[in-house]
Amino acid sequence: MLKLEYKKISDDTLRAMRDAVGSNHDHYEDAVCAIRFILPSAETHILNCADSCIFTVVESLPEPILTVDMGGWNGFKKSCDILNKKYLEIETDEGMINIESLKNYIEDYEIKSIYITSLCAYTRLQPIEEIYELCNVHDVILILDISGTIGHEKINAYCDVQIASTGSPKIVNCENGGFINNLTQKVAFNKHLLKTFKADNITCAAIANEIKKSPEILQKTVKANTYLKRILSEKLKDDKTHHIIHESYTGTNTIIKTESKKTAKKLAYHIKQELDIPNNKSIITTGPNYNRLKIPSVNVETKNMDIEYLTKGNMDKLAEIVVDKIESS
Ligand SMILES: Cc1ncc(COP(=O)(O)O)c(C=O)c1O
Repeated sequence: MLKLEYKKISDDTLRAMRDAVGSNHDHYEDAVCAIRFILPSAETHILNCADSCIFTVVESLPEPILTVDMGGWNGFKKSCDILNKKYLEIETDEGMINIESLKNYIEDYEIKSIYITSLCAYTRLQPIEEIYELCNVHDVILILDISGTIGHEKINAYCDVQIASTGSPKIVNCENGGFINNLTQKVAFNKHLLKTFKADNITCAAIANEIKKSPEILQKTVKANTYLKRILSEKLKDDKTHHIIHESYTGTNTIIKTESKKTAKKLAYHIKQELDIPNNKSIITTGPNYNRLKIPSVNVETKNMDIEYLTKGNMDKLAEIVVDKIESS
């Protein structure tokens, strides 16, 4: 059995939250300053979760809005359905946007806004710089969900509006909350929605304390995941049915393609049997799944692990378990 820990709120952030209970201090302002220190912006709104941020942003977007056919976030589509906003899904290459098809799509369907996650399926960076360049040429508003890349040195800046979750298990892991950074202020948000969904003082105290750690947490997660992708690719190089999707790219999870949905479920079950993670939490999920890839697969959610457990030794053992279960299935 491999002992691992699921991501939990850090002790110092818990302390900051406890101290905020009953306090008159304005933790909202502290959190705004802390967010802007990492992600410079002239307009920041902190809400109770990222889906509230998405709902609020979608409400104000011009249509039609474009998103991906897989590897995005289904909360965006749900908000569009509730708000009766027209959205289209661009066909991707296993979640990745092709710039030439995007250009054609924008022109053919007169796209006015785009919502994407900075990481496709949490496993590979979208070509964000090129996407934003295209958006600027065609007057399209780009909404970038940076939940998976907060702390990245530069990629998050290539958009009009940033949205991020500070829920769990996330890079900024506070169990609640999310924020909107309106970088270019080309859209104005509904004031009633901003007020209705506004984050409480305790969540803000957590964000103010936690967000400064995001560069280090992201870097450790990516490093461990890159190593896991590499050793698994190596071990599976002669396997005709299993391979790592987007194997040599930066991400925070590792996706293993399987033969069918049924074999993915079976393999995931056998891997989970070898992992000792308290409280019935799991770092293994399966596809097809819109939020990951709509491909039969087993996803090792490296991002869900406590960073203390993201060691080379644990990644080696995890890879051994995965390969052993593939070979014996
Ligand atoms: C990319 C992405 N965006 C948004 C959300 C929604 O976050 P929240 O739980 O804060 O509403 C999630 C949740 O997992 C997510 O993965």
